[in-house]
Amino acid sequence: MIEESTLPALAEIECAATLEALEALRVGTLGKSGSITTLVKTLGAMSDEERRTKGPLIHAIRTTVADAITARKAALEGAALAEQLARDTLDLTLPAADRPRGSIHPVSQVMDELAEIFADLGFAVATGPEIEDDWHNFTALNIPESHPARAMHDTFYFPESDLAQGGKTGPEGGRMLLRTHTSPVQIRSMLEHGAPLRIIAPGRVYRSDSDATHTPMFHQVEGLVIDKGIHLGHLKWTLETFLKAFFEREDIVLRLRPSYFPFTEPSVEVDVGFALVNGKRVLGGSGDAPGHGWMELLGSGMVGRTVIAAGGLDPDVWQGFAFGVGVDRLAMLKYGMDDLRAFFDGDVRWLAHYGFSPFDVPTLSAGVGTAA
Ligand code: DAH
Repeated sequence: MIEESTLPALAEIECAATLEALEALRVGTLGKSGSITTLVKTLGAMSDEERRTKGPLIHAIRTTVADAITARKAALEGAALAEQLARDTLDLTLPAADRPRGSIHPVSQVMDELAEIFADLGFAVATGPEIEDDWHNFTALNIPESHPARAMHDTFYFPESDLAQGGKTGPEGGRMLLRTHTSPVQIRSMLEHGAPLRIIAPGRVYRSDSDATHTPMFHQVEGLVIDKGIHLGHLKWTLETFLKAFFEREDIVLRLRPSYFPFTEPSVEVDVGFALVNGKRVLGGSGDAPGHGWMELLGSGMVGRTVIAAGGLDPDVWQGFAFGVGVDRLAMLKYGMDDLRAFFDGDVRWLAHYGFSPFDVPTLSAGVGTAA
């Protein structure tokens, strides 16, 4: 009777293929009406004598079967775990999938470079609105209503109807427009901060113009120094120091040429010497040397008396110089890019080619990244 009910079960337990099959065997043997439970129950009806001889045997059988089930369960679970581990292996030596990563636009990069160079010279960064009024953009800069310079700027004006509806008139009642240069920030900075003053104002400007070297929106950086006893020598030193730092060349040579801007007196056009190397212009050296030339780079001058007065300052006390230069042009010259329109096309291939890795150079827009 003992052999019949246990040994086949033991053999089955030892080769149960799954946890479910094993559980069925447990119910069939040790369960409420399982074969071994039934066997244990027969002890109650036995005589003392019989129980003394069969009892230990029956309990031994139950223990053996229970142990066999526990052992088989552990073996099956272990095998399942091992199989899962084998299936789920992670190969940490595989290269990670490449994820698209943004880059710093050359214009942002150059504006950061400018801010850093001028910060070393004690200049703060100032800003002004891109939707500007006529007074700040023109009149306060000594460009009155009938001045031909207004026509030269190809201004985008807001429709008169917008003025009526949106109340978009300037504080001085002028018509609203998209600023044509960063020079209005000169006026705003003087009015806001007074003197002495040392600022640069990088930002977007707008003119109705479009070809390989002109886009309707482009970037300028304005510079303004207002203090006592400022003269052209300060202007020349500042521009020279800035351009040498920006182009990372000690041999940058400037030529100051008399010019005209309504807001400066005297006005100075600044040229920079270049050499022709394999048909390409490489900045450096005097433009008068054989095989060299001068390239027009920026406008500047001593801030006009009326402009200083429009900024709320006494021109008998305060003098200053100002300059304005195209940021996009600076970027093209420094990094060898030749079509301005590509700057604003948003072509990711161009950006991938000319963009700056946020991890290569610590800049204001990139943050101080750690080298990859
Ligand atoms: N605002 C001028 C322009 O957009 C550039 C300029 C020339 C700015 C001379 C200046 C300056 O501050 O002094 O054409």
